[in-house]
Amino acid sequence: MQPADTRSDSMGRPLRDLRVSVTDRCNFRCVYCMPKEVFGRSYRFIDRKELLTFEEIERLARVFVGLGVEKVRITGGEPLLRRDLERLVARLAAIDGLDLTLTTNGALLSQKARALADAGLRRITVSLDSLDDAVFRAMNDVDFPVERVLDGIDTAAAAGLPVKVNAVVKRGLNDGEIVELARHFRGAGHTLRFIEYMDVGATNGWRLDDVVPAAEIVATIDSAFPLEPVEPAYRGEVARRWRYRDGAGEVGVISSVTQPFCGDCTRARISAEGRLYTCLFSAIGHDLRALVRTSEDDDALREAISGVWSARRDRYSELRTAETAALPRVEMSYIGG
Ligand SMILES: C[S@@+](CC[C@H](N)C(=O)[O-])C[C@H]1O[C@@H](n2cnc3c(N)ncnc32)[C@H](O)[C@@H]1O
Ligand code: SF4
Repeated sequence: MQPADTRSDSMGRPLRDLRVSVTDRCNFRCVYCMPKEVFGRSYRFIDRKELLTFEEIERLARVFVGLGVEKVRITGGEPLLRRDLERLVARLAAIDGLDLTLTTNGALLSQKARALADAGLRRITVSLDSLDDAVFRAMNDVDFPVERVLDGIDTAAAAGLPVKVNAVVKRGLNDGEIVELARHFRGAGHTLRFIEYMDVGATNGWRLDDVVPAAEIVATIDSAFPLEPVEPAYRGEVARRWRYRDGAGEVGVISSVTQPFCGDCTRARISAEGRLYTCLFSAIGHDLRALVRTSEDDDALREAISGVWSARRDRYSELRTAETAALPRVEMSYIGG
């Protein structure tokens, strides 16, 4: 029998990455993620006492690392809304050999970057969909100015955190912003990655027509700043990478709609209330919190997680059709991207 830490799922994919959502709340209402009014009602959020505590998250993370996880990404909702997040960062940063990162909308980053870096965060990803203030305010839909996110990025870089920038592209909304984003971040030392608009959740009214294919994004950048492809650095790398021919760094595209990468997906996700999801497009998660709260035995946790992982068959993006887009699934703000 194989040792547990090399165990793979039913399609031969090992468990290597873990995304941990620490809250489902957000201070933005990005139109592609948490549109303000959903079917005439407001969002209902997880009660605070239902959230995994930092101790519980650390315990789970250690079990996941024992099963082969090498990288943990803290996410949300907006993770910087979780009080004392740097305490969680410090706990996870103390796990040997773990690559620890975080994805944020950047709104609170100027205040928090130094504490996060001091707590041991290795690097950070900031979501930023436009440099045009009016477009940015319309996309976050809470009238948040782009300048403050740019300040957050500068503060994080000054605190020594390598920064990646993620931009979701939605047709007719910010596809005119691609070249400006590329211009701003090339040569600045921050890797920019464009993300195809995905049919996650059931609230964003996703339509295939709204997706700007990665090939079109690359062609748009290439016509302004010529590009050449870069070989993937490792199995499961989600972004396809391109290098500016003039040496001004790299840019990536995440093409989960037009060129799905399920075959290489090594990622598990835990929701803020401790449910385990093996795909971004799952409808149902496996409750780990009950086990964490009732058993002190890490072996029981290990068994439960590896049982779920070894039975994993998900490859939603490869099977996506107009019909699958209508299937029930969790929201991106719940599961964390
Ligand atoms: C759900 S957010 C959570 C972390 C944080 N609030 C943020 O925005 O960075 C994680 C990532 O998912 C992306 N995202 C949200 N909805 C998406 C969608 N429908 N398609 C593609 N990416 C999406 C966001 O742009 C962000 O980069
Ligand atoms: S993408 Fe991030 S910032 Fe935007 S609404 Fe979703 S969780 Fe909030």
